[in-house]
Amino acid sequence: MPEGPWWRGLRARLALSTAVILVAALGTAFAATYRGTGTQVRNQIDGDLRQDSAAFVSRIPFYPTTPAALTHAAQSYLDQQTSFGATARLYVVRIVGGGIVTNQPGLAGPASGTTPADRLVAGPPRESDESQALRTAKPGFSTLTFGEEPLRLVVVPVVRDNRTVATIAIGESAASVARAQSGVARTFAIAGTLTLLAAIALGFVLASRISRPLRRMAGTAARVTAGDLSQRIASTAPHDEVRVLADAFDRMLDRLEDAFARQRGFVADASHELRTPLTVIRGQLEVLARQPAVTREDVGHVNDVVRTEVLRMERLVEDLLLLARADEGELVRPAALDLQTFVTELFDALTLTADRAFELGEVPAGTLVADEDRIAQVVRNLARNAVEHTGPGGLVRIAVAARDGRVEIALEDDGPGIPAAQRDRVFDRFHRTDTARARGQGGAGLGLAIARAIVAAHGGTISAGASPEGGARVAFELPGFRPSASAPRPKPRRAAAS
Ligand SMILES: Nc1ncnc2c1ncn2[C@@H]1O[C@H](COP(=O)(O)OP(=O)(O)OP(=O)(O)O)[C@@H](O)[C@H]1O
Ligand SMILES: [Mg+2]
Repeated sequence: MPEGPWWRGLRARLALSTAVILVAALGTAFAATYRGTGTQVRNQIDGDLRQDSAAFVSRIPFYPTTPAALTHAAQSYLDQQTSFGATARLYVVRIVGGGIVTNQPGLAGPASGTTPADRLVAGPPRESDESQALRTAKPGFSTLTFGEEPLRLVVVPVVRDNRTVATIAIGESAASVARAQSGVARTFAIAGTLTLLAAIALGFVLASRISRPLRRMAGTAARVTAGDLSQRIASTAPHDEVRVLADAFDRMLDRLEDAFARQRGFVADASHELRTPLTVIRGQLEVLARQPAVTREDVGHVNDVVRTEVLRMERLVEDLLLLARADEGELVRPAALDLQTFVTELFDALTLTADRAFELGEVPAGTLVADEDRIAQVVRNLARNAVEHTGPGGLVRIAVAARDGRVEIALEDDGPGIPAAQRDRVFDRFHRTDTARARGQGGAGLGLAIARAIVAAHGGTISAGASPEGGARVAFELPGFRPSASAPRPKPRRAAAS
């Protein structure tokens, strides 16, 4: 696992992200609830005040509206109310041309010119801040600070005969708003903290579970990097994205291990094949060096053997280079060629190479888009195999067929054939069947591998089977064929064993 600060880890990041999201969600919910609670309690107070003021105004007489009558009416309403406190309300009635009637005598300083029983406050010598705030409050609802607490106030004018005869101010403590809101804040603080801690813990546990296979993968990758390709994650987790990744990782390692094994085998085989001719050459030279009197014939013999082995090595190196180029994907340069001309010329050349009964069936007319030299190389490789596995006079047949824009070219013989179990593997590099090995002759086992590489580079396929005569049939199919109906079909050819 790559080391880094703990907060960079998936677990810490997921847990912290959960916390941040939760804090944002809780904050929004808190703000909405806090404001909603305040509005609700305030509306309740306003409703009560509105009702009370309406009841009060209805108690003020329409006649007479003298200050004394108004004072009396206001006083008798106030007598029914308890004095202002935590539960009761504050009443201040200003009578135009008269004084002030209130249930809070101390509000506007000492009374002057009236009896204390009247609780009539008229013209305080020095007006308090609260009294001034009350006096200057505009009609309608407002909130003042009264004492230490907020006071919700409604001011209503009393109109009689189109004339304002008095103003009634009714106040109620709004401390319940703050109380309700602080209750909400407390609840949120406790529940929010607990939820937050739980979410962080849960987020951490969840992230640990999610990242466990990833950590295992990193461990496996580290061991693979150290050179052990047999390592696998072998996840048994439920089928989620991480499991898909783990399985894909295992499959990739399977292929890598396979490719490395093939590569090692290829290098070992190539070295072995190159060592054989080198050993022969060294042996010949040593024999020559040990001879006390070297004759011209001795030199001629060694020269022949060494030349043969050098040619073998040259061919092997050429084949290996060709396969390496096939791996790099720059093997063929396709161009349009006439199928009949191509096949008949190739056939005629082949008939000269060995003492066999060569046969060519009907060749379809048309053009094929392919690399002429490379396809000729494939046919020659297959034909050489057929010749190598048949005796003098043996059958070597080329059969060509076309269908749906594809051409199939098959090489058939009447030799021992390729055992069914070997038919896929003969295309592997350096693969030779046991009988071929036992004979100790033939090439390195690269001919069919090269044929397959060339055919695959053309987008075609190659396969091995049995011929009607019981020998081998190796056939390849290529795309890019365009038939032409007009061209004459040549007669089937037969080249007797020369
Ligand atoms: N026509 C055939 N009949 C029987 N066996 C065959 C035939 N063609 C190929 N094989 C088997 O398939 C093996 C692989 O063939 P391939 O052409 O790749 O290698 P090779 O002929 O042994 O060597 P190279 O072609 O490199 O000289 C051969 O060794 C042989 O065992
Ligand atoms: Mg061969």
